[in-house]
Amino acid sequence: MEVKEVIRVENLVKKFGSFVALNGVNLSIVGDGITSIIGPNGAGKTTLINVITGRLKPDRGKILFMGRDITGLQPHKIVRMGISRTFQVINLFSGMTVYQNVLIASLNRGEDSRGLVEDVLRSFRLESYTRARVELYGLPGFHEYSPSEYV
Ligand SMILES: Nc1ncnc2c1ncn2[C@@H]1O[C@H](COP(=O)(O)OP(=O)(O)O)[C@@H](O)[C@H]1O
Ligand SMILES: [Mg+2]
Repeated sequence: MEVKEVIRVENLVKKFGSFVALNGVNLSIVGDGITSIIGPNGAGKTTLINVITGRLKPDRGKILFMGRDITGLQPHKIVRMGISRTFQVINLFSGMTVYQNVLIASLNRGEDSRGLVEDVLRSFRLESYTRARVELYGLPGFHEYSPSEYV
């Protein structure tokens, strides 16, 4: 079976002013396994992930994902190509349910997510209004049950 090169990084350089955080990084990640990047604090791990995922633009070098050049692309374009990331300090929408948080993350898979986001936020506003009504009427388990289970 052919082993795919998922990510290839060539001669990646990232500077912050005169400080060189990534100094010619080369990397090849193949197959379906788990690959770890390890190193002491300040080694440049987060900077490398930030450059690969488009949060930071490299000063030099090239990044290929599944053979396609993604160097310097905007993060939302890279996400749509299939790279996702998590953060050391996660950010969730604390006012929304788990389901809604997952839904927000899923929205970016659409072709034109901007209108869709507005639609969903509108439905969230309606939903909290609706839930307040349901609670006012004393109907329990609004989220857990379907209406047929009330009777
Ligand atoms: N936005 C930034 N501006 C200036 N220096 C930075 C910035 N981000 C990271 N650095 C520096 O780059 C080096 C690598 O940091 P980082 O990638 O966060 O390391 P790691 O994730 O391996 O701990 C550190 O010396 C850090 O201080
Ligand atoms: Mg880090």
